Amino acid sequence: MNNITQDDKLFADHNYDGIRELNNPSPYWVLLLFLGTIGFSLFYAVHYFGYPNNGRDQVSEYNKQMAMAVNQPSNQNPSDMNAAFVFTKEQMAEGAKIFLEKGCIACHGTKGEGNAIGPNMTDKFWVHGCKPAELLKVITDGIPEKGMAPYKAMMTEAQMKSVIAYILGTLVGSNPPNAKAPQGVECK
Ligand code: HEC
Repeated sequence: MNNITQDDKLFADHNYDGIRELNNPSPYWVLLLFLGTIGFSLFYAVHYFGYPNNGRDQVSEYNKQMAMAVNQPSNQNPSDMNAAFVFTKEQMAEGAKIFLEKGCIACHGTKGEGNAIGPNMTDKFWVHGCKPAELLKVITDGIPEKGMAPYKAMMTEAQMKSVIAYILGTLVGSNPPNAKAPQGVECK
């Protein structure tokens, strides 16, 4: 106590029953930081609590993310034609085996490049449509008049979906050597 003087600069103005406060204001930069956080909190509250209905509140963000996830293909060769088809890497790997074991390679080539009988599956051109549902129909019912057998008695639908995952996710865009010339209509 001895070395504290009554110097006005040392003490703040107020005096509570003889208890006085040292005049010790925080530096300007701390004050600015403090005001800045208040400003930021206002921006944050308005922006991220979704006021007024700007679509950035948690529920809207959740719904947006879910909608994106549904439309996100999990393949390494994203192409526009499979944008709405969700499949996993496991399906792609299983589909590769099926493509071999079910003999698709006989007419579509070991790398899907196509041959004298079947069309190329690595380009964006398709005779019977490029949508997963259209591929499913071709594999299910075949194209008997062209020589492709129906596979509905030989494969489960899950197997067909895996092979479609392999075709759209791995084969399309893979650019194998000796690829057969495009046939059909280009899918954008
Ligand atoms: C005996 C030969 C043969 C076998 C085996 C075969 N296909 Fe085909 N595939 C064809 C022919 C021929 C076409 C039709 C070409 C046309 O219509 O011009 C075709 C068409 C397709 C198409 C449509 C291609 C397009 O451009 O629209 C898909 C998809 C397909 N095959 C998948 C498969 C799958 C998957 C397997 C194995 C489960 C398979 N194919 C086995 C001969 C075969």
